[in-house]
Amino acid sequence: MPSSDLAISPRDFDFLSRLVYDRSRICLGPEKQPLVAGRLARHIRSLGCTGFADYCGRLATPAGADEIDVVIDLITTNHTHFFREREHFELLSRQLLPTLATQAKNRGRPLHVWSAAAASGEEPYSLAITIAEFARSRSLPGWRVYASDISRRMVERCRLGIYEAGKVELPAADWLPRYFRRGFGPREGYYRVKPEVRRAVTVEAVNLFQNAYPVPADLDIVFCRNVMIYFDAPSRADLVNRLFGQLALGGYLVIGHTESLLGLRHSFRQIRPSVFVRPS
Ligand SMILES: C[S@@+](CC[C@H](N)C(=O)[O-])C[C@H]1O[C@@H](n2cnc3c(N)ncnc32)[C@H](O)[C@@H]1O
Repeated sequence: MPSSDLAISPRDFDFLSRLVYDRSRICLGPEKQPLVAGRLARHIRSLGCTGFADYCGRLATPAGADEIDVVIDLITTNHTHFFREREHFELLSRQLLPTLATQAKNRGRPLHVWSAAAASGEEPYSLAITIAEFARSRSLPGWRVYASDISRRMVERCRLGIYEAGKVELPAADWLPRYFRRGFGPREGYYRVKPEVRRAVTVEAVNLFQNAYPVPADLDIVFCRNVMIYFDAPSRADLVNRLFGQLALGGYLVIGHTESLLGLRHSFRQIRPSVFVRPS
C-alpha cells in the first residue's frame, strides 16, 4: 500500500489540527485532511507506528513533545524563490533604502531588516543582495538581515545557503558571480551564497507567536510575506500588532501581494497595496 494511503479518522485529524494551531496558529480546515494524511504518512510508517491513532497517542505523551516540531516541518508549505514579487525589491532599492539609510545614519546605527517567514532562505538572501547592491554606490552605516522560520528544516537550509543552479534566478547577470560560488565535484549543479553575504544574515528558528522575538526592537523593515494566509483573522491581527511594536518609527512592513490587512485593527499607514509604514 503506498504510504499516502494511511487513513486518518476525523478524531485524529481534529487532534492534529488543534496541536498545530496551538503551536503555530496555522489553520488546518477539514479540506486539509488529505494533505495532512499525505504529508505525515511516510513519517508515521518510518517510526513504526501502526497508523494515525498510534501516532497521535505518541504525540499526546511527554515523550512526544519534540515530535510536534516534526509535524510542523512536514505540514508547512515552504514555497519561495529568489526575488519573488520582484516589485518589493525594486521599491526597496528605489524608495525605501534611500530614506532608511538617512534615518539609520541620523540614529547612528546599522540598518536592521527581518525576513520573518524566510523558508529556505531565498527571501533573506534576496534582501541581503539588494542591500549590498545599494551599499556599493551609497553610504550605509552597516546593515544586517535577520532570517527566521518556524520550521527547523527550513532554518537549516537557510543557514546552508545552497541552491540548485537552475533556481538561482537573479535580476542582473553579474550578481551571480558577485554573490554566489559555483559548486564543484559533488556540489556540481549547485550554487552557494558567498560567506560574506551569509555572515550578514543571522538565521534562527522563530515562531511568529512566541513571547518575544530575538531581533532588534527597532527594525527598519519586516518582510512577512505569504505566511498570514495560513492564519485566521484574530491571529493575523495579533501578528500585525506585534510587528508594529517591533518596528522603528518610520519602519516598513511588507506583506505578500495576495495578502491584505483589510478588516484588521492596526496603526500602520498604507503606502502601497502590500507595503505599510509605522508613522513617525
Ligand atoms: C510560503 S512560505 C513564504 C516564504 C517567503 N516569505 C516568501 O514569500 O517567498 C511560508 C513560511 O512560513 C512559515 N511559517 C508558518 N507558520 C509560521 C509561524 N507561526 N511562525 C514562523 N514561521 C511560520 C512556514 O514554515 C513557511 O516556511
